[in-house]
Amino acid sequence: MGKALDGVKILDFTHVQSGPTCTQLLAWLGADVVKVERAGEGDITRGQLRDVPGVDSLYFTMLNGNKRSITIDARNPKGKKVLEALVKKCDVLVENFGPGALDRMGLTWEHINSLNPRMVVASVKGFGPGPYEDCKVYENVAQCAGGAASTTGFDDGPPLVTGAQIGDSGTGLHLALGIVAALYQRNTTGRGQRVLAAMQDGVLNLCRVKLRDQQRLERMGVMEEYPQYPNGKFGDAVPRAGNASGGGQPGWILKCKGWETDPNDYIYFITQAPVWEAICKTIGREEWLTDPRYATPKSRLPHLMEIFGQIEEWTKTKTKFEAMAILNEHDIPCGPILSMKEIAEEPSLRATGTVVEVDHPTRGKYLTVGMPIKMSDSPVEVTRSPLLGEHTDEVLAELGYTPSQIAELHAEKVV
Ligand code: COA
Repeated sequence: MGKALDGVKILDFTHVQSGPTCTQLLAWLGADVVKVERAGEGDITRGQLRDVPGVDSLYFTMLNGNKRSITIDARNPKGKKVLEALVKKCDVLVENFGPGALDRMGLTWEHINSLNPRMVVASVKGFGPGPYEDCKVYENVAQCAGGAASTTGFDDGPPLVTGAQIGDSGTGLHLALGIVAALYQRNTTGRGQRVLAAMQDGVLNLCRVKLRDQQRLERMGVMEEYPQYPNGKFGDAVPRAGNASGGGQPGWILKCKGWETDPNDYIYFITQAPVWEAICKTIGREEWLTDPRYATPKSRLPHLMEIFGQIEEWTKTKTKFEAMAILNEHDIPCGPILSMKEIAEEPSLRATGTVVEVDHPTRGKYLTVGMPIKMSDSPVEVTRSPLLGEHTDEVLAELGYTPSQIAELHAEKVV
């Protein structure tokens, strides 16, 4: 069976996390992704957070599956020639260097466009045009500048970053969408275009509901579904909402049996209005059904924390999986807090290819997260990440270099 992006060639000039996330997704969709790395060194993450001495780290291997690796010294004139040959041959160049680095390599948009007017040039940067456009940015900087940190955590604590890599992987995902759309538009225009995904913008897009709440707060002065209501204070900016659901259906994280010893024995519990009756009956609080303080979603809002406290008395008597099974029988939305250990061992995630075991020549077997988007006509087979420069000779040969020219490039340390 074919794949969605069969025939698409990607010149992958990415490093660390955001760009590699994007190109790995494109590779899973069927594109031929050639990752260009610095000769001798490679992507810095190959050596970061190593768990096995001398072996590519999990940081690298889990972000660079299904790609080919070629090493090129981009500052060497002969290296530049190889790069230009790749630009002519490929459909997309993806990069996430610091601001201006691609231009300093001589690969300006104008130059790329003159070499290959059909090429899509896609970049991740920390910020879009504006006061911070020249700044280098990593994940947590983006979480802070994109509005996530100020709205995450508890009211009485400092701003908090989340473990979900919404700045890096989230922006890589945004960029992949831009690239696929640019390729689609090229079908009618015949032209490539520049695609920019700024990490601040990507994070803000994922925090859209908080900008919604900012405007609600300005209009109303309070937000009734936030834990600060009715006893706490609201300032002039959206406060941290703890584990509040963020939507119209109040929710909170509640302790389950075993919480004293296992930090993940908790469940997320949502008091969705249509199943309020089922909730009351399940936890043995039928009297709430006729009590005017609890009868409607609106009347419950000032009592939410007290309600969750009472529900927790029930969840504490069940394991998170027992609670999940009982609540699901009544369509009460809830979710166990799963640890990474539980996720790694979950058979259904293995069965769907969401968690995949891959074999690597120097590391051996490792787990990676597979393609999160499943397509009926574009199957994904997750393969291992390449060794540094593993495909240099192969790619050079495809570009028309002869064996002796390739040997010369190696001898001169151009590749
Ligand atoms: N051959 C020769 N030189 C190479 C090369 C190659 N194959 N590949 C990269 N380089 C050089 C570049 O020319 C550049 O040199 P210059 O800045 O002196 O012109 C340098 O290596 C790369 O610089 P930079 O990308 O700024 O790396 P860094 O390690 O200093 O910064 C980041 C890392 C992530 C902070 C920065 O790349 C960045 O802000 N990227 C955009 C935002 C982003 O994606 N952040 C998230 C990363 S997960």
